[in-house]
Amino acid sequence: MGLGIIVKDLVKVYRIDSVEVQALRGLSMEVKEGEIVSIIGPSGSGKTTLLNIVGGLSRATAGMVRVGDIEVTSLNENQLTEYRRKVVGHIFQTLNLIPTLTAAENIELPMMAMKVPRSKRIERVRELLEVVGLTGRANHKPGELSGGEQQRVALAAALANDPPVILADEPTGELDTVNSKIVVEYLLKINREMGKTIIMVTHDPVVARAGDRILRIEDGVIKAALTPAQVSMKERTLSFIDQIRMRMSDLESQLRKLEEDLRAGRISGDEYFRERQKLTQTINVYREELHRLGVVS
Ligand SMILES: Nc1ncnc2c1ncn2[C@@H]1O[C@H](COP(=O)(O)OP(=O)(O)OP(=O)(O)O)[C@@H](O)[C@H]1O
Ligand SMILES: [Mg+2]
Repeated sequence: MGLGIIVKDLVKVYRIDSVEVQALRGLSMEVKEGEIVSIIGPSGSGKTTLLNIVGGLSRATAGMVRVGDIEVTSLNENQLTEYRRKVVGHIFQTLNLIPTLTAAENIELPMMAMKVPRSKRIERVRELLEVVGLTGRANHKPGELSGGEQQRVALAAALANDPPVILADEPTGELDTVNSKIVVEYLLKINREMGKTIIMVTHDPVVARAGDRILRIEDGVIKAALTPAQVSMKERTLSFIDQIRMRMSDLESQLRKLEEDLRAGRISGDEYFRERQKLTQTINVYREELHRLGVVS
């Protein structure tokens, strides 16, 4: 029921005015049919960019993505729309649901796009509400559900057209530990029982360990592949923090070099301010990350 995913030499460059960001720098990875793979990595390392390209929400600058025998990176707009409806279910960190519709209607919506007959839709909604354990919440609007319940409705909606692949970008990002655990358990359930191939991006090592494998992205490429048992949670968290610290100290030395360059007249004031702005922004992102991880820096 799942499909294998092959990503090869994927490059994504974002351009805003004259500023260029290389979000993916030749990233390659494979996910086997029916596998559940976790992706971890620092903020800004390219996780969402990767998921959006695999999910057909965004286009690659170069490289290839193949899902089953579909070469996603060479689909035209119409084919991409069809691909998004049939082949992948996408779950985001927040705002998966339409606030004015009930849980049942939110799950029904993707099937309306596929012109599934009403009686079939109703039956499928009932079935999916049962899969995610929310039969009693059919007529609740998102605002009348807990965060964890909302994500389970989002999961049901992602499953509506029975796609072989589920892509989840921080599906537990806004949830407490208890609700995270429940949402992850449902993801595991649909992986095990329905054989769906799943890629799950997460910051949480506990969530990541639910995967068959864990891939770590850094600066737009896969830096490490781990099995859940390979690295203990504590070690992984520590090495993650160490990585951030190393990146920060690297950026700080770049800042010092920039000042030297300015003093020595090797760069203009304009160049200095522009570069400095970029560097300090990135440093601040890492600082926030450390703060969030509870590391006093
Ligand atoms: N639409 C966009 N336009 C320009 N730059 C972007 C865009 N989306 C992402 N970027 C940049 O690309 C890089 C990778 O972003 P991405 O969102 O993929 O990171 P991430 O790993 O998902 O981070 P986080 O953990 O914070 O969600 C970042 O430097 C980001 O600023
Ligand atoms: Mg992201």
